[in-house]
Amino acid sequence: MTSGVVVVTGGSQGIGRATVEACLRGGSAVVSLDLVEGGPPSEVGEFVHISCDVTDEGRVASAMADLAERFDVIDGLVNNAGANVFEDPATMEIADWDRLFALDLRASWLCAKHAYPLLLRSNRASIVNVSSIHAKLTVPGMFPYAAAKSGLEGLTRSLALEWGDRGIRVNAVAPGFTRTQLVIDWLAMQQDPVAAVERLNSQIALGRMSEPSEIASVIAFLLGSESSAMTGAVVPVDGGHSIRYPS
Ligand SMILES: NC(=O)c1ccc[n+]([C@@H]2O[C@H](COP(=O)([O-])OP(=O)(O)OC[C@H]3O[C@@H](n4cnc5c(N)ncnc54)[C@H](O)[C@@H]3O)[C@@H](O)[C@H]2O)c1
Repeated sequence: MTSGVVVVTGGSQGIGRATVEACLRGGSAVVSLDLVEGGPPSEVGEFVHISCDVTDEGRVASAMADLAERFDVIDGLVNNAGANVFEDPATMEIADWDRLFALDLRASWLCAKHAYPLLLRSNRASIVNVSSIHAKLTVPGMFPYAAAKSGLEGLTRSLALEWGDRGIRVNAVAPGFTRTQLVIDWLAMQQDPVAAVERLNSQIALGRMSEPSEIASVIAFLLGSESSAMTGAVVPVDGGHSIRYPS
């Protein structure tokens, strides 16, 4: 159960969108910071879309200033916006590395930094970073996604220690294979997408990919008071994909 004011980055589709809807159902007012507008969510409640590139510090600062005028406080921040890239470490250009890290790692710090004064005004502030199963186990051809997501888990622990005594909790979820546009795009790159899904499903304890709503419900738990003793934790939400010893 969430409440208060929750900010979700990348709230227009996929896991972010499902998180917006879960938080609205939990009674929160929700602000989505996204490059594109995803349309009004199906759930009723107070919802605001702010057009924002979360890799741009000026845009993040002005989005938070906009928010301060409307709400005066932030109770929850979900750093969800992220992307996959498929680079070759032997040829990748610095500009491409920087672009990926700006989104998959730096943006979470920037949003936390500019949300911080408003989070301090809450008596139940909680940040949830959306990591990935790839922070711990990865595959060839998805460079340097794993490095960025590992960094995000380090950022989660650092901020949890820096801000714990100020009442701000910081946790992460590490989703596995989840049915979103990001995965649909990845499948489209596979020679045989049906075989690729079957192969992946066969490695997952539950035998299937997760739905965005199943990640969102864990994010909502980490935002809410039911998880009040948790900080610095990374919670896998991957249907048991990461517990399997490859055989
Ligand atoms: N789908 C999966 O299987 C999976 C698995 C593990 C982790 N994740 C992580 O979950 C998060 C969400 O993934 P998804 O699958 O829902 O992705 P998605 O591509 O479906 O949605 C991403 C959203 O982020 C927004 N966005 C992208 N760049 C942005 C920017 N610079 N500023 C603001 N918004 C921006 C997009 O417009 C989009 O609405 C990502 O961090 C991803 O790494 C996804």
